[in-house]
Amino acid sequence: MRLIIEPDYLTLSRWAADYVAAKIKAANPTPEKPFVLGCPTGSSPIGLYKRLIELYKKGEISFENVVTFNMDEYVGLAEDHPESYHSFMWKHFFSHINIKKENIHILNGNAKNLEEECANYEKAIKDAGGIDLFLGGVGQDGHIAFNEPGSSLTSVTRKKELTSDTIIANSRFFDYDLDKVPRVALTVGVGTVMAAKEVLIVCNGHGKARALKHAVEGGVSQMWTISALQLHPHAIIVCDETATDELKVGTYKYFKDIEKDNL
Ligand code: GLP
Repeated sequence: MRLIIEPDYLTLSRWAADYVAAKIKAANPTPEKPFVLGCPTGSSPIGLYKRLIELYKKGEISFENVVTFNMDEYVGLAEDHPESYHSFMWKHFFSHINIKKENIHILNGNAKNLEEECANYEKAIKDAGGIDLFLGGVGQDGHIAFNEPGSSLTSVTRKKELTSDTIIANSRFFDYDLDKVPRVALTVGVGTVMAAKEVLIVCNGHGKARALKHAVEGGVSQMWTISALQLHPHAIIVCDETATDELKVGTYKYFKDIEKDNL
């Protein structure tokens, strides 16, 4: 695993976006062989999306042949609810770039048959040739997508009950009213993320310091699902200084040293 330590949120977001842009450009995607990008929601990736939009507006990158699969969606929240992940993605990313609507995939949390919806989603990822680069954030309790503590590290797309920690954390988007936060979500599994060719996680702020410590220094554990990335051949976490608050000095220095000459 690579750990890139940037000074602050702005620089980490730029690093991540520039990495994504370079990967898309290098792949030189076509309609027959598009670039498949896994997309997260949450506050962490907003800066990264902002920078990707800037690069698109400058003509440095095109999303014409990019296919996306989002990580997760709440169950039972209307698609046009301002806090649905559908709304989030259009607001912060899709409506500002030249992606084709038919290339966007987001789980339908209002599907009649949720099991079937999840199975079809996994199939659609496979049919698209798998995910080239899965972007992600991380919860304070170390979850990726909605793979809460205790999730199987080989899980695939499925329905998941949210933990109290996540409901409390996400209540900031629902007027701090716990009763307004959906209790259930559909989410790609840890195994779905692990099957991607590359994974890039953005992690910022002191609130993520414990999660980062477990991701990098702890053992692989279902209690910190982000730690599964230790078993991925091409995983990168890009973080800011404050997210490193709980790392050992030696760990911090090691990654600073080995990454100092890299992009
Ligand atoms: C939610 C999302 C995750 C995200 C996490 C952290 O639980 N399902 O994908 O990583 O929140 O969100 P934030 O970036 O706002 O801290």
